[in-house]
Amino acid sequence: MTPLEWHHDELRMIDQRLLPTELIWVTCNHASEVATRIRNMTIRGAPAIGLAAAYGMVLASQEADGQSLKGDARRVFLQKARAELAATRPTAVNLFWALERCDVAADTGELLAIAKQLHVDDAQGNRRIGEDGAALITPGMGILTHCNAGALATGGWGTGLAPLFVAHERGIPFHVFVDETRPRLQGARLTAWELARAGIPHTLICDNMAPSLMREGKIQLCLTGADRIAANGDVANKIGTYGVAVAARHHQLVMAVAAPRSTFDLRIASGTDIPIEQRSQDEVTRWGVERICPDATTAFNPSFDVTPAQLVSLLLTDCGVISPVNEERITAVLTRSR
Ligand code: MRU
Repeated sequence: MTPLEWHHDELRMIDQRLLPTELIWVTCNHASEVATRIRNMTIRGAPAIGLAAAYGMVLASQEADGQSLKGDARRVFLQKARAELAATRPTAVNLFWALERCDVAADTGELLAIAKQLHVDDAQGNRRIGEDGAALITPGMGILTHCNAGALATGGWGTGLAPLFVAHERGIPFHVFVDETRPRLQGARLTAWELARAGIPHTLICDNMAPSLMREGKIQLCLTGADRIAANGDVANKIGTYGVAVAARHHQLVMAVAAPRSTFDLRIASGTDIPIEQRSQDEVTRWGVERICPDATTAFNPSFDVTPAQLVSLLLTDCGVISPVNEERITAVLTRSR
């Protein structure tokens, strides 16, 4: 499954805000619509955001063609669209990575070829992550996930969930504990939906239940995705990932983080430099439309946190497995040919 597709000069994407109740595809004809869809989380998940932005640039180029813009006028038009897409969400580096890949294209045809290639590459890389990650899964294992790093978040299989799909395909029995992932509930709404569709046994838990399940011996492996990984291996991912990693270390469990090459930001030395998106207080102070705290109460809503490299047991990438997690191993694995 893919959460977005190019169809007759338009970009179509699943409206992930409506899942699991409704599976609705929406259409974007303009780059600015794509920017809005990324910002309001119609499409989300680091690799999927990058792909949407790449297709957004194709739409911008089509618009420029439609207005017969040439030379500087065309360049200015495309730069404006690029800036709008880049300003949507600051943490997932895949967005900026994809836009940089598009910068070299001369025309709409080239841009479309690049966007489609990024899409295919991402799906293939997901499969590689899944194959390597499935080797970590043994019969009877309990596995904890946080947020949604499945097909919905990528160009194909997912990152954090890909090992589960491959292990399930191979007939290995295991059980997944799905963190609901407050405040946007990507675990409850999206990960649980993907696992249910695949027929993978799973149990939804509130985020604050995971450490106690670890203490009871029900979880052996924690598996998440990432939004940006710094050169030293520090990982930015959905808020709450750091807490999972701290609890996993206390209980001596494997903390595996899965991400493609496009999620690594080797220009950033450590997690301290990763920009963390702050979202609306309403996501915390309200349950849907209903306010759940006094009117005078304010809320703090960072969308991501940073897990230090020393709490990550291994990184599953489309270039291979990185363990131990340090700058030297990251550089060695990411720069070797696939
Ligand atoms: O705010 P979101 O839903 O875009 O956050 C998504 C995550 O944190 C995912 O774990 C991450 O992007 C990896 S997706 C393969």
